[in-house]
Amino acid sequence: MRAPYLSARLQGLGTTIFAEMSALAVRTGAINLGQGFPDTDGPAEVLEAAVAAIRDGHNQYPPGIGVASLRQAIAQHQQRFWGMAFDPDTEALVTAGATEAVAASILALCDTGDEVVVFEPSYDTYAAVVAMAGARLRVVPLRAPDWSFDPDELRAAVGDRTKVVLLNSPHNPTGKVFTRDELALIAEVCVERDVIAVTDEVYEHLIYDGEHLPLASFPGMGERTVTISSAGKTFSLTGWKVGWACGPEPLIAAVRTAKQHLTFVNGAPFQPAIAVGLALGDDYYDGLREALRAKRDLLCDGLESAGLDVIRPAGTYFATVDLGARVDGMDWCRTLPERCGVVAIPSVVFYDEPVRGRHLVRFAFCKRDDVLAEAVVRLKGLSA
Ligand SMILES: Cc1ncc(COP(=O)(O)O)c(C=O)c1O
Repeated sequence: MRAPYLSARLQGLGTTIFAEMSALAVRTGAINLGQGFPDTDGPAEVLEAAVAAIRDGHNQYPPGIGVASLRQAIAQHQQRFWGMAFDPDTEALVTAGATEAVAASILALCDTGDEVVVFEPSYDTYAAVVAMAGARLRVVPLRAPDWSFDPDELRAAVGDRTKVVLLNSPHNPTGKVFTRDELALIAEVCVERDVIAVTDEVYEHLIYDGEHLPLASFPGMGERTVTISSAGKTFSLTGWKVGWACGPEPLIAAVRTAKQHLTFVNGAPFQPAIAVGLALGDDYYDGLREALRAKRDLLCDGLESAGLDVIRPAGTYFATVDLGARVDGMDWCRTLPERCGVVAIPSVVFYDEPVRGRHLVRFAFCKRDDVLAEAVVRLKGLSA
């Protein structure tokens, strides 16, 4: 057999930049603000619940749709925070993280040649799962610094072949929180063209300016939306990979068929523990948001005082720096550890059309305050 072994569908989709930057951080002793995972654990009661579940014997395959206590907690969470009602027995599915929920949705819903519309830049998994499904990606550009999009470009992207509009809000990597007017427009286009929406809402609780409005809550959208989220960001437990999809029964049944043949089931002892997390009081959710707001401001103020042009995010735990048209973000990130002992990610990896994101760089601020403070000291050295 002759190389290349990677199928034609996946050519060009093996992003190694996250691994390269993390390896660079280890080699140079730099502070890693590249990959987006917290450096502290989630709430103690959730950790304890997982330990108890393991001790109590929740160690075999759970039900395919997910354990009942978690599905009930997911339905209660959707009602409590967003006023949306889902039947926990037929309209909620537990998945191996939001990543599997997105992959299973696209694989379940798309036939070869169907089109999936995403806003660009986009979380790098989207292009890969669209390719795995044999579908085609259509992108609608978000333009810095406010990350707005042109409604005509959205209308032009959603055509006869469009099966799904895949929306991520709050949005990685930009930190954009889609506004009510923008969501109303997206909803209108979905209804008008009779397409399904799949929404990735993993940062739903990490909003500092604006508010989270699930697309499924807009007129005509409840019946055509798969709403996805996960425990990773909300409980600082990214390694547990417990996610979920909610939606009308026929859509969830379709997604469940794909999930069944991807992982079948996942995370038996973690599922009841996340049920405990979802039921935590408002003080937990408010505390998480306010702690991250302070981290956002700490990092963004520091980047500004280093003389960098920062686009302060409204949500998520990522901030973007615009280096200006003449600077290549990839080169800049590759030399940043040596220049000041910090690692960031070139945003170009989130673009289908690289030329659009060449000058942008993403920093993660989901790190301990002392780590961020030290990163700021180092970054200030850049301007010295
Ligand atoms: C937009 C987006 N969706 C999904 C994920 C992954 O979620 P999970 O770990 O639950 O699969 C991430 C993680 O960075 C993300 O940024």
